[in-house]
Parts: sequence; structure tokens; C-alpha cells
Amino acid sequence: MAQKGQDIRLAANFLKEGKLVAIPTETVYGLAGNALNPAAVASIFETKNRPSFDPLIIHVSGIGLVEKYTEDFPKPLQKLAEKFWPGPLTLLLPRKNNIPDLVTSGLDRVAVRVPDHELTLALLASLDFPLAAPSANPFGYISPTTAEHVDAQLGGKIPYILDGGPCKVGLESTIVGMEGEEVIIYRLGGLEISEIESIVGKVKIKDHSSSNPQAPGLLESHYAPRKPFILGDLNEMIPGFQTRKVDFAVLSFTRQIEGISGERQFFLSKNSDLKEAAANLFAAMRHLDESDAEVILAELMPEVGLGRAINDRLKRAAAKV
Ligand code: TXA
Ligand code: MG
Repeated sequence: MAQKGQDIRLAANFLKEGKLVAIPTETVYGLAGNALNPAAVASIFETKNRPSFDPLIIHVSGIGLVEKYTEDFPKPLQKLAEKFWPGPLTLLLPRKNNIPDLVTSGLDRVAVRVPDHELTLALLASLDFPLAAPSANPFGYISPTTAEHVDAQLGGKIPYILDGGPCKVGLESTIVGMEGEEVIIYRLGGLEISEIESIVGKVKIKDHSSSNPQAPGLLESHYAPRKPFILGDLNEMIPGFQTRKVDFAVLSFTRQIEGISGERQFFLSKNSDLKEAAANLFAAMRHLDESDAEVILAELMPEVGLGRAINDRLKRAAAKV
């Protein structure tokens, strides 16, 4: 178990020594280290068991710091930053040489964001370096949305978890960059496409999978529980599993399903609210993964607003390598 608390100075001291600290953000908890210290960055990869071809996001306390680490800030992306930072938006920008290769996996863009969490913003403001932070989970597993989630898997490997309570958004940031004049979304996330389009007009969504390791958060199998996770129409799937006497658990959008015990089902939002569903998603997946059911049956959300990003995570959780 790691020490947990709200002590920003203690967290800052560990980070200055090159150690790692888990940090709260509005999206998910991050596993943070000094982005300018290659040894600290290397230990992020090691602690998460993450392949080094998967680049990291750097976190800064405000938009004014972007120019310190990047060569150029195209106008459309600048407008997005002005509107949505601090918030669940990550921008891919041409990097300066002060960013170690390990952070970007040798790519010429660096991912930057300003997270929206009081504690982490105060922590960043007290440091003279940015924090590289992937989600604080072992590679490929469900992202953590509470300090307890982090502690359960990485607690033995890090000295401190800055405990900022449950994450408000619950889905990772939306990753945006440019190719020529075009604004591209590389990962669907906590900031909705429509909000982005309201500022920069029509965008293109590059929904890659394992064939394109540009953003391995987009690997086909990712965010995955250990148990078989089967996505489909619950009404069609449930009777079959009942007849075969398979011990299953159910993850649904709003409904409670009759004849299944409360421990064996989890619905994401009573009032069909996709924001609420997003905030509950990863905790629900973990909860069911930890139950003693043999398989998890789940349904897709409506493919609108945050529903698209939630469905992206559900499909990757269900994908088998
Ligand atoms: O909400 C979030 O973004 C959270 C919190 C902690 O900030 N972080 C997060 O990090 O989700 P991570 O490492 O789990 O996912 C970052 C994604 C990866 O899929 C990575 O491939 C992509 O960002 N990425 C980072 N730098 C990139 C780059 N230079 N070019 C393309 N993709 C990049
Ligand atoms: Mg991740």
C-alpha cells in the first residue's frame, strides 16, 4: 500500500527526487514523474509495464507554459486550449528538444494538457518541470478513477498517492492534433466532439486500432478487465447464459434487470445521463471484474455525445488480442 493524502509539498518533494506519485485529474488518475528527467520517465514505463513505443502526455499548470516545450501552437488548437483548459483535452504539438525522446517515443509531436483538478494544478504550479503521466494502471487494464483503484494495483510500487477523490469525468482526455489544415481527433474522450466542432468547425476522427500504434491507447484490446467481457444485446444474451448455468454479471446503461441479484448487475446511470455513465464506467468495470462471476455481459450506450467515447472503451474492453 502507498501512503495516501493531500500533501502537495510531500508529493512535490518525491517528484523532485525523481520518484513517481499518482495524481488526481478530472479524467482518470495519472502516474506522474518529472517529464524532463529521463530516469523518472523510464520508471513510469517500468512501473506500468508499458511498452516504450507508447508515448506519454505532459501535464502543465497553464496555457502559458506550452511555448516552453513546443515549437508551434497552431491557431485552431490554441483556440481549443483557451476554451477548454483546464479540462479533458490533450493537444499534439511539435515538440522542442527539451522534451526527452522517451516521452514522445521519438515522435516529433508531444502531447500536452492542463488537467482540471485543484490539487494537481497546485502541485504543478509548485514545480519547475511538467509531469509526464499516463493513466495509473498496469498497461492494458482499466484506468483508475479513485485513489483506491491506484493503490490496489500500483500501491506497492510508488511512495505516494495524492488523493483527490473520485474523478469527475471518468474517461481519458480527448486527443486532438492537426494534419495540414485539418483538425484531427486521435482518441475520443471526456471532451465531446460537438464541443470541439463548435470552436474549430468540422473535424476528422482517426479511429485507429492496433494496426496503427500512433496512439496505443487506441490498441484494439485495451481498458480490459481480466474476465471475459462480452458486448451485445442483453435481452438476447442473458437467457443463453442462464440455461448454460454460467455465473455472469451484467453492466447496463440505465435498466435494472429483473431476476438478477443486485451484486451481479451494475447500471451506469439511472436517468440515462451519459455524463454520469462516463463517470461510473471504469469503477463499474472494476467492481464486476472483482466479483466472482465468470463473465461480464455488457451493452453499448446510445452512440451520441459522450456515448461514443464510452462505446469506444467498451469495445476495446471486449476485444480479444
Ligand atoms: O486523461 C488523460 O489523458 C490521462 C490523464 C492522466 O491525464 N492520461 C492518459 O494517458 O490517458 P495514457 O498514457 O494512458 O494515454 C495517452 C495516449 C496514449 O494512447 C498515447 O499513445 C497517446 O496518448 N499519445 C501520447 N503522446 C502522443 C504523441 N506524441 N503522438 C500520438 N499519440 C500520443
Ligand atoms: Mg491509459
